[in-house]
Amino acid sequence: PTGRLLDQLGRPLRDLRISVTDRCNFRCQYCMPKEVFDKDYKYLPHSALLSFEEITRLARLFLAHGVRKIRLTGGEPLLRKNLEALVAQLAALRTAEGLPADLTLTTNASLLARKARALKDAGLNRLTVSLDALDDSVFRRMNDVDFGVAEVLDGIEAAQAVGFDRIKVNMVVQRGTNDDQILPMARFFRGTGVALRFIEYMDVGATNGWRMDQVLPSAQVRERLESEFSLVPLAPGSRGETASRWGYADGEGTHDPALGEVGFISSVTEAFCGDCNRARLSTEGKLYLCLFASQGWDLRGLLRTGASDAELAAAIAPIWQQRSDQYSQLRSSLPADMAPPGAASGRRIEMSYIGG
Ligand code: GTP
Ligand code: 5AD
Ligand code: SF4
Ligand code: SF4
Repeated sequence: PTGRLLDQLGRPLRDLRISVTDRCNFRCQYCMPKEVFDKDYKYLPHSALLSFEEITRLARLFLAHGVRKIRLTGGEPLLRKNLEALVAQLAALRTAEGLPADLTLTTNASLLARKARALKDAGLNRLTVSLDALDDSVFRRMNDVDFGVAEVLDGIEAAQAVGFDRIKVNMVVQRGTNDDQILPMARFFRGTGVALRFIEYMDVGATNGWRMDQVLPSAQVRERLESEFSLVPLAPGSRGETASRWGYADGEGTHDPALGEVGFISSVTEAFCGDCNRARLSTEGKLYLCLFASQGWDLRGLLRTGASDAELAAAIAPIWQQRSDQYSQLRSSLPADMAPPGAASGRRIEMSYIGG
């Protein structure tokens, strides 16, 4: 492997997002609505999941191909038993440049207070917590399992206490559901060292009944923030970043690092496919090249039929090299009710299966 794989649009492979379970203890309407994910829903059997050894083996090969960031997702990743053992195995790997990967995790924080210490000790670098509202009744309604805000905040605090800095909080904004929480969330996290990111509600998956009128464009989210705060644009942190970053300004109109920053992830109104360097490995070992794909490449099959490292690496390279996905970009150039031809024909995969 050369570490310099480019796809059909010249995009390198840099970010590997690994889903470790398709289960979650929340039922956010926009992700795992109760009507679909009910007691009869067929989750993957344990034998279908990649083992930690299989995940680590694939991760090592992806790092050799140029990946620098690994994100563990779900479902809810902390539901996977002994996840810290996987973190420790991944933390021992090195990129093509010989450096440790940037190892991070997206969680709803329901189990974070209990797990923060073990994750930190295992070598996890960063954390992103999903939290859609500060108002308890709004949040309980959105997660649909009556889970309270206080426990999520306890999880964040516990993570900070064991030494996680650079924590991010993701808020999916749905017009008419939690858009009244934009300012309270900003007030709460400003100056805490936590970067709050507002995510446009996406038409991902096939079960959430997405409608364009539920999307609040990031430009409007920013306007609301600017009714109370002064924001200045910040330079992008890295190429291919999903969020556009804005800093809270001091009295002089320059960024005050102590007040921190907010981010806008605008995949609906300002698609960022042009630099998309993300590959996704599903819970059962399928490789997806886009969040909106309907089909993945079965790597587990190769693993379990005894392929060598060289054979696996040689299989992964052309998969990335033939990639031309740019769903959001195509989507934004079409009428709201039209899906790009080919890009997502067939039933789209669910976010809970592929991970955010
Ligand atoms: P860091 O900024 O390095 O922490 O990573 P990130 O920006 O990739 O963050 P994160 O995993 O928290 O992603 C935040 C959200 O952005 C996800 O939950 C998705 O809603 C959205 N998102 C992430 N990657 C993509 C992508 O490739 N395409 C689209 N359309 N949305 C994405
Ligand atoms: N639109 C945008 N983000 C979503 N997520 C899940 N479903 C959606 C959607 N429809 C993201 C959220 C959450 C993460 C686990 O998945 O960012 O924090
Ligand atoms: Fe679970 Fe996150 Fe999906 Fe909510 S958004 S159901 S917390 S995976
Ligand atoms: Fe990447 Fe697909 Fe998202 Fe575009 S829509 S940024 S190609 S994952």
